[in-house]
Amino acid sequence: MAPESEKKPAEKKPVRRESTAGAEKAPAEKKLKAGKKLPKGGTAAGDKKKKRVKKSTETYKIYIFEELKPEAELALEASRLARYNKKPTITSREIQTAVRLVLPGELAKHAVSEAPIPTPGKDEVLLKLEATSLNPVDWKIQKGMVRPFLPRRFPCIPATDVAGVVQEVGPGIKNFKPGDEVVAVLNHLNGGGLAEYAVAKESLTVPRPPELSAAEGAGLPVAGLTAHMALTRSAGVKLDGSGPRKNILITAASGGVGHYAVQLAKLGNTHVTATCGARNVDFVKSLGADEVLDYKTPEGAALKSPSGQKYDSVVHCATGIPWAVFEPNLSAEGKVIDITPGPSAIWTFAVKKLTLSKKQLVPLLLIPKKENLDYLVKLVKGGKLKTVIDSKHPLSRAEEAWAKSIDGHATGKIIVEP
Ligand SMILES: NC(=O)c1ccc[n+]([C@@H]2O[C@H](COP(=O)([O-])OP(=O)(O)OC[C@H]3O[C@@H](n4cnc5c(N)ncnc54)[C@H](OP(=O)(O)O)[C@@H]3O)[C@@H](O)[C@H]2O)c1
Repeated sequence: MAPESEKKPAEKKPVRRESTAGAEKAPAEKKLKAGKKLPKGGTAAGDKKKKRVKKSTETYKIYIFEELKPEAELALEASRLARYNKKPTITSREIQTAVRLVLPGELAKHAVSEAPIPTPGKDEVLLKLEATSLNPVDWKIQKGMVRPFLPRRFPCIPATDVAGVVQEVGPGIKNFKPGDEVVAVLNHLNGGGLAEYAVAKESLTVPRPPELSAAEGAGLPVAGLTAHMALTRSAGVKLDGSGPRKNILITAASGGVGHYAVQLAKLGNTHVTATCGARNVDFVKSLGADEVLDYKTPEGAALKSPSGQKYDSVVHCATGIPWAVFEPNLSAEGKVIDITPGPSAIWTFAVKKLTLSKKQLVPLLLIPKKENLDYLVKLVKGGKLKTVIDSKHPLSRAEEAWAKSIDGHATGKIIVEP
C-alpha cells in the first residue's frame, strides 16, 4: 500500500449537463474564475454559440453558452437532482421560446422570440409549462394602465397563471420534486407565463391531481382566487353553505372571474342573480345562477332582479356601471365589491366610508394565497367547480389569444399552450 504522502490528490470530475435537445452532451466546459457569478437566467447574448446537431434524420438547433457556473454550484445541483434520481435536463444557459413584450402600449411589438430559461432561486421551482391562461390585467400592464407599479421593465414575458411539470427545484424546496404536476401563480412583477419554462415560488405553487387537465388548472389562479376572495372575504359567504342565505349579484358572469364566482356562490347556498350577454344566458344558468339578466336590455342595464331581490353583495366584474345604478338595488347594508375600480369608484368608496353609509363600495385587489388555490384545485378535483375554456391557442400564435382577451368577449378562460 502506498504511503499517505505518495497518494495522488483525488481528481475533480467535471459535472456534465445535457441540453434539452437531448442530442449531445455539452462541450468542454470553460470554468469561471473563482467567485465569478453568472447573471441569473443565463449569460449575455454574445456568450452563446449556435450549433447544429444531427441525430438520426432530425436536426436540432441547440444553443450552448460557453461560460458555466462555478464547479461547486454545479456539484450542488447534481447532488440535488441525484436525490430525486433524475438526470439534469435543463441548463440555465439554454434558451426557450417565449413571448416578450418589447414596448409598452404597442400590441404589434410583442412577438414570439427567444429568452433564457430562468434558474430557480432558493424557494422556487422551475416549471415546464403545459398551459397558461390570460387575464385582462396582462394586457393592462402592457398598455401602461397599471403604471407606475407594473411592469418594472421592458422587455418582459407576460402572464402569471400556469400549469406545468416541475423540472428543477431550488435548494430550499422540500415539498416538490422533478416530475410533479402543479398549478402556480407567478409573480406579477416578473410574469413569465407566455413561455415554455417559468419559475414559480413554492409559496404560490400547489399540486395538480390527475383529475385536472393542465388547461383547467391554469384557468384557476387569478380569476378563481379573485372570485373566491370577493365572496368569502368581502361578501362573507361561507362556501360550505353554513352561513345565512344571501342575495348576490354577479356582473359579467360569463367571463373568467364571473363564471367561477357563480359556481362558488352557489356552493355557498346563496341566491344568485347574474348578468351577461344574450348568447350566454343559458350558459350562465347552467353554472347555477338562479336569475340571469341580459346586460343589453333595459332591465339588465338597471340590474333589476326579475323576482325583486335586493342584493346583499354585488361581485362587480364588469366595468362602467355607476354607483347610482347599484344603489337602489342594494339591501339596507348592501355592498358592491368592485374588482375593476376606476377613479369614480375610489371616490364613492371614500365618500361612503367618511359618511358612515350603510351601503358601501369595496374596491378589491387580489392577494393570491396558496391555501385558497389548493382549495379551488380540490373543488375541481371533486367535481364541484369547473373551468370553462373559451379557446386554446398555441404559444406560436399567442397574439391571437392576446387580441381575444383585449376584445373582452371571452366565455370562460383563454388558454395558451406551449
Ligand atoms: N381586482 C383584481 O384583483 C382583479 C382580478 C381579476 C380580474 N380583474 C378585472 O376584472 C375584470 C373581469 O375579468 P375577467 O377575467 O372576468 O374578464 P373577461 O373574462 O375578459 O370578461 C369577459 C366577459 O365579460 C362579459 N361582459 C363584458 N361587459 C359586460 C357587462 N357590462 N355586463 C355583463 N357582462 C359583460 C363579456 O360578455 P359579452 O361577450 O357578451 O360582452 C365576456 O363574456 C377585468 O377588468 C379584470 O381586469 C380584477
